[in-house]
Amino acid sequence: MVRAIPDPEGIRTARTLPAAWYSDPAHHAVELDRVFRSGWVCVGVTEELPAPGAWRAIRVGGVPVLIVRDRDGDVRAFLNVCRHRAAPLCDDLESGDGPLIRCPYHAWLYRLDGSLARASGVGEPDGFDLAEHSLTPVAIATWRRMVFVDVSAGAGELTLGPLATAIDAFPIEELEPAVVERHERPFNWKVLLENYSENYHTPFVHPEIDTTATEDYPMVSDGAVLYAWDRPLRPADEAQRIMHDLLPGEPGWERLAGAATSRPYDVGNYLTVWPNLMMNVFPDAVLVMWMEPVTANVTVVERRLYLRAGTPDDVAKRIADTHRLVHQQDVDICTSVQRSHDAGLDANGRLATFEERGVFFVHQHVRTALA
Ligand code: FES
Ligand SMILES: [Fe+2]
Repeated sequence: MVRAIPDPEGIRTARTLPAAWYSDPAHHAVELDRVFRSGWVCVGVTEELPAPGAWRAIRVGGVPVLIVRDRDGDVRAFLNVCRHRAAPLCDDLESGDGPLIRCPYHAWLYRLDGSLARASGVGEPDGFDLAEHSLTPVAIATWRRMVFVDVSAGAGELTLGPLATAIDAFPIEELEPAVVERHERPFNWKVLLENYSENYHTPFVHPEIDTTATEDYPMVSDGAVLYAWDRPLRPADEAQRIMHDLLPGEPGWERLAGAATSRPYDVGNYLTVWPNLMMNVFPDAVLVMWMEPVTANVTVVERRLYLRAGTPDDVAKRIADTHRLVHQQDVDICTSVQRSHDAGLDANGRLATFEERGVFFVHQHVRTALA
């Protein structure tokens, strides 16, 4: 018998979100403000942070942000907006390096700690003080291999909740990048987050990876993390017994990362980290995806696949190809679903009470953010 996990409160009466929440620009503007500009969001991976003495411009919920690493290695983030007349200091996704950041418009110069070093030619405006014109700092933090930014004025500590620690023993930082991809996709960010957070569609959209005869796909959630895993119905090895007997984070779960198994790619831990990060964590591989919403129906999706050093080329290719096919199938169905949202067609649907707990998790977070 597998352990029963109680229904999340409210799922039995829940309805899906209105189509306008996926397609209306005015609604999207509110969501950007309440979700992507009001808390921590994933913006990348640590190995892609700028080198010492360099910087790089990104967008966080549409807000231009400059990530800077000083010569001592300390990483900071600032609004990518000159404190003179608001020119961007660096174009989106572009990088720079040097001892000072020079605004391209009137050449004000900033140190890598954000302080204004020189405003040549500005003359003597009354009471002008360089110290009052530093770049505006925004909060930046890392968790495992992921980088997060909070552009809100009131950023607190990055806290993802206790389920984030259930993957502590997995050697995520030791793995090596095998796939690096960035694509603009024609759907609202929530469409992919919902798709990622349920396995209900797998037998139909991904028949080649259907494991419903041998596993179920339970989910638990706490704080920012929804944690799903491949739970074997008839455990056959040590890893499978852990995944069968325990819930993520319970004493003994930490042994999963090193537990004997003949099928490491069935030891799957799937984390949806509100609002925009998705992680597949296996003993020998990690796939991460994060999103930057562009418009109501356009989203940039970043994908990274990591494998153990020394993974033979043919094995690496097989893993990358499988993940790529699955992702393309998800992109195709998400693109189709977005067409219904764009047409304003409300499904007003009901959720599968076991299989779609992750969709409910996403909807609850959206509703809370908008309340
Ligand atoms: S806007 Fe940057 S120096 Fe003028
Ligand atoms: Fe899928």
